[in-house]
Amino acid sequence: MAIAVALVLVAIAVGALAFHYASPWWLTPIASNWHAMDDALLLTMLITGVAFVGLHAFVAVALVRYRHRAGHRASAEHGNRRLEWWLIGITTVGIIGLLAPGLTVYARLITPPPDAQVFEVMGQQWQWHYRLPGRDGKLGTTDVRFMGPTNPFGMNPDDPVGQDDVLVGGQELHLPVGRPALAQLRAQDVLHDFYVPQFRTRMNMVPGMVTHFWFTPERAGRYEVLCAQLCGVGHANMRSWVVVDEPAAYAAWLARQATYGGGTVGSDGSGGAGGAGGAGGAAAAGKAGQLVAQAKGCTACHSVDGTRGVGPTWKGLYGSTAPLEGGGIAQVDDAYLQQSIAQPQAQIVRGFPPVMPPAQLTEAEMAAVVDYIKSVQ
Ligand code: CUA
Repeated sequence: MAIAVALVLVAIAVGALAFHYASPWWLTPIASNWHAMDDALLLTMLITGVAFVGLHAFVAVALVRYRHRAGHRASAEHGNRRLEWWLIGITTVGIIGLLAPGLTVYARLITPPPDAQVFEVMGQQWQWHYRLPGRDGKLGTTDVRFMGPTNPFGMNPDDPVGQDDVLVGGQELHLPVGRPALAQLRAQDVLHDFYVPQFRTRMNMVPGMVTHFWFTPERAGRYEVLCAQLCGVGHANMRSWVVVDEPAAYAAWLARQATYGGGTVGSDGSGGAGGAGGAGGAAAAGKAGQLVAQAKGCTACHSVDGTRGVGPTWKGLYGSTAPLEGGGIAQVDDAYLQQSIAQPQAQIVRGFPPVMPPAQLTEAEMAAVVDYIKSVQ
């Protein structure tokens, strides 16, 4: 019996090692300067791996060697200085090896270099808002008093510093490759967490606090932003993108962005305030509504293929009837869609949580989204 249990323990240790090396779940290729994160993780795997295999082997050997045999009597030994010093020493080295890399890397993560370019992330159930400083290099002041559906950052309208701030249209932030970026994080409602696996960085976003960390994107590409704190029914869909551009492409993107004070970064002030943002020039392609819906985060909760999401699917929605909470039925026509987008709490479709925030759309964007919903049949 003792030998059977020992064999099971050996099989567990060998199986764990085999799974570790054969599994497909290795780290995604790194795209930032934080190689130290990977090193710390590897060292942790190594130390815990050695302890795991060593302890299983020790118990297996002890089981076999000291198993019950007729005529043998157990004896106890009290106090073995040498053994105790060895165990204390090895455990101390192991714990220092587990703690020290994490603490030193974290200290570096929250100490940005002086040339880091700041950007702000605002988390909201279940979308992301991004803000960049304008030409003055400074973010304008904010206050919760100013927060509202049309002002998710709480921008102070009287602060001249904030007028040139870039409010990024759409769920997509661009950053230039090779330049240190300082992420400044806030949350509007509950705990969220800004996480980009390829950057090896993440940080909680806490209501009432400003948290931060920095990184240098080292590879151009498009990386998914995940929310890494369970923040409600739409948590799994709370995603957006960080696009790391070569400098020229970044400058072109930045020039198209709208500023808080009106106009776009690249314009002489003649560009339309609250411009189409993520929709941009693609409007001409006739896909304007789809792009707006993606940019404003609608598609996080509303599917176009009939799948039930946090909110009703758009497939076949137009022209149908919607049963309402508290009784009654709504005819889904243009007026119903416009009201549902601008004042989602006015009528709640039965069976869905009343969680949609009012969407901030210009008249043109509203018309485009309604047209898009009509087209999804
Ligand atoms: Cu926001 Cu999970």
